[in-house]
Amino acid sequence: MNERDIRRLRTFLEEAYRRKTPRSRALFRRAEKVMVGGGSHTLRLYHPYPFFVTRARGAELRDADGRRYIDYWQGHYANILGHNPKLILEGVRAALRGGALHSGFESAVQIELAELLVGSLGQPRWKVRFTTSGTLAAMYAVMLAKAVTGRELVLKIGGGWHGASPDLLKGVRYHDAAGFGAVESAGLAADVFRRTLVTPFNDGDRLMQVFKTHGGRIAGFILEPYLGVGGFVPADPEYLDLARKLTRQHGSILIFDEVISGFRLRPGPVFTLYGTAPDLAVFGKIIGGGHAVAAVAGRPEVMAGCGAGGRFPRVVFEGGTFSGHAEYMTAGAVMLRHLIRHEKSIYPRLAAFGRRLRQAIEDVFRSEGIEARTTGSGNDVVPGGSLFMVHFPLRPGHVFRRPEDSMDERSAYLALREQTLKLALAVEGVHVVHGGGAISVAHEERHLEKTVDAYRAAARLFRKYLF
Ligand SMILES: Cc1ncc(COP(=O)(O)O)c(C=O)c1O
Repeated sequence: MNERDIRRLRTFLEEAYRRKTPRSRALFRRAEKVMVGGGSHTLRLYHPYPFFVTRARGAELRDADGRRYIDYWQGHYANILGHNPKLILEGVRAALRGGALHSGFESAVQIELAELLVGSLGQPRWKVRFTTSGTLAAMYAVMLAKAVTGRELVLKIGGGWHGASPDLLKGVRYHDAAGFGAVESAGLAADVFRRTLVTPFNDGDRLMQVFKTHGGRIAGFILEPYLGVGGFVPADPEYLDLARKLTRQHGSILIFDEVISGFRLRPGPVFTLYGTAPDLAVFGKIIGGGHAVAAVAGRPEVMAGCGAGGRFPRVVFEGGTFSGHAEYMTAGAVMLRHLIRHEKSIYPRLAAFGRRLRQAIEDVFRSEGIEARTTGSGNDVVPGGSLFMVHFPLRPGHVFRRPEDSMDERSAYLALREQTLKLALAVEGVHVVHGGGAISVAHEERHLEKTVDAYRAAARLFRKYLF
């Protein structure tokens, strides 16, 4: 595989894509005139231009040109029941008829969502506060950690994405020279580089070292017990144990970010499976039933940092104008109630679908002589689930178990996945992000078959042009 071959394949795919999506192209030209980069989220703005969605239902999308896609992005992994699930539409419609289009007041339905959330944690004493995005929830969790400890350093995982909150915009992407040591954004306070420490995932020795050197100054350690964007890999149980032990020993707050994993692999967070409880947990995505809902849940002693009558100055965790919005809370409550009630039929089916799809993708590439690896399976503690990511290793047999494996260009052909595979599948009517995505309850056998056909077509093109 060389640059020229990749360019030839890209040109072939871009021409095919442009032929199939002229209306989306025209919409993108219009968008570019008034919107930065032509849209609202860089991840959605792939080259040459994104298709514009006019309708989304269940596992499928329709674009402005009337083309259909099987969608595995599913609302940034939020739509575990698929797009526009009837159940939630009905719940929301009934609530809207009753006047739920309001925020700015305390509504009873938010208590219901809070009760469902707390009930799923195995921590009956914990308290919740809502906000409207995972980014904000992670930001507030870090503020709480800093406030209650009176410390200034925050520790995170290299490859951990917690949204674009200022303290956590370091060590998200892998950079050739700096690895996970770089600050990711302009416009941050100059000392984010110094105040945010980064440690490798599942590496207990390095974690012990960091705490030995900085322990007394670390306010909080934030990590995903099941890594999302960093590769869909679960933490080793010993690693979470160690994180709990070290944070306790050094008086730091342990924060688990369950924005992706919460309610995705079981009807609640995954930390309950590990038997390791953090001090704070962050939720988002699924808990809003397709709406902008996120939450921080935690030990009352820590959450008191944002409560009136607690410490002063308190953490100004106000969630925002739309926090606790009655419509959003209704959707979230319908979603969680359904997932909890139907746990036994939903999660094993999603896991089985995930297992089959991951295996089928590896098989179709192998049959074309190409090695593709998928992640998304579990470990001894966390069951395999409905998430899947595809990786093309540079070295045969490479095992993908850390963010370094999937994000370092010396381990995997990243551009091949992010750009070429994405376009090859889009041309075939399958929409993926990072080579895969999230299976929903709405995905059926026929979707699986069509999806595997699309990956097979992509694999054949890869062999013809590249390998
Ligand atoms: C683990 C994790 N935390 C936080 C966030 C930020 O959530 P949001 O996009 O709702 O701001 C994300 C988003 O993808 C995430 O994956």
